[in-house]
Amino acid sequence: MKTVTLSTLQAAKRAGEPFSCLTAYDASFAHAAEEAGIEVLLVGDSLGMVLQGHASTLPVTLDDICYHTRCVARGKRASLLMVDLPFMSNSSSERLLQDAGALMRAGAELVKVEGEAWMAHGIRELTRRGVPVCAHLGLTPQSVYQLGGYKVQGREAEQASRILEDARTLVEAGASVILLECVPASLGRAVSEALEVPVIGIGAGPDTDGQILVMHDVLGVTHGRTPRFVKNFMVEADDIPDAFRRYHSDVKARRFPAEGHCF
Ligand code: KIV
Ligand code: NA
Repeated sequence: MKTVTLSTLQAAKRAGEPFSCLTAYDASFAHAAEEAGIEVLLVGDSLGMVLQGHASTLPVTLDDICYHTRCVARGKRASLLMVDLPFMSNSSSERLLQDAGALMRAGAELVKVEGEAWMAHGIRELTRRGVPVCAHLGLTPQSVYQLGGYKVQGREAEQASRILEDARTLVEAGASVILLECVPASLGRAVSEALEVPVIGIGAGPDTDGQILVMHDVLGVTHGRTPRFVKNFMVEADDIPDAFRRYHSDVKARRFPAEGHCF
C-alpha cells in the first residue's frame, strides 16, 4: 500500500471510493491491519473498554494513549495513524494543545476530538499549529453519562440538522475529517454529501466516505452486548489476517455495512 495521507482520503472521497478504518492498539495487529489494506488505523480510547475492562472510555489517560500510539506506530508503515484525545483533553485550549502535542510526538498523524460546535476554537488552534483534526460527532462516548447511555443520536429532524450544522462549523474551523457515530443512515449520507472533507462512519449507514469498527468487534471477542452496527468477520474467515481482509474488501465493495447494521 502507498502511504496514506489526508490527500489520499480526499481523493478517495472525490472518486466515490470508500476507505476502511480499524482501531489498533499494538504493533502486531497494526501490521496485520495494514497488510490487509486498511487505510486508517485509530488508537481509540475504546482501549479503556476492550483492553482495560472499564465500563466507559473516561478512565483512559493521556499516558495510556501515548503508550499504545508508540506501539502502533512501530508496527505500521503506510496506513494513516489517527489517535484519540482522551476525556477532558478539551478542558482548556492550553491542555488541548499540550495533549495533542504529546500524541503527535508519540506518532499520531491526525488527532480525533469529541465535541460539538463549541470545539471550533480548539480545532482552529490545533490546525493553526499543524495538527490535523478529526471531529467526532453524533454519539460521543466521552459524554455517555450525559447522554444517558450509548444511544442513537440525531433521530429527530431538529437534532439531525444540528449535527449537520456542527459538522459544517467544525470543518470551517479547520477539521480535516468528520467521524459520525450511531446516527441514522439518512444523516450519515446528508453529512457526507454536504461536506468537502471525508466523513467516516460507525453505525452511520452505508453512504459515509469511510467506515470504522473496533478491532475486537471485527474479531468477535467483545464481551457483553454488541451494538447493531458491528459484524464479526471471524465467522467466515480462516484466521485473523483473513478477517481483516474480508472487512476491508466488504467496505471497498460497499457490502458492509448491510441494512441490518444501520439505523
Ligand atoms: O475509541 C474508538 O474506538 C472510537 C471509534 C469507535 C470511532 O472512537
Ligand atoms: Na474514541
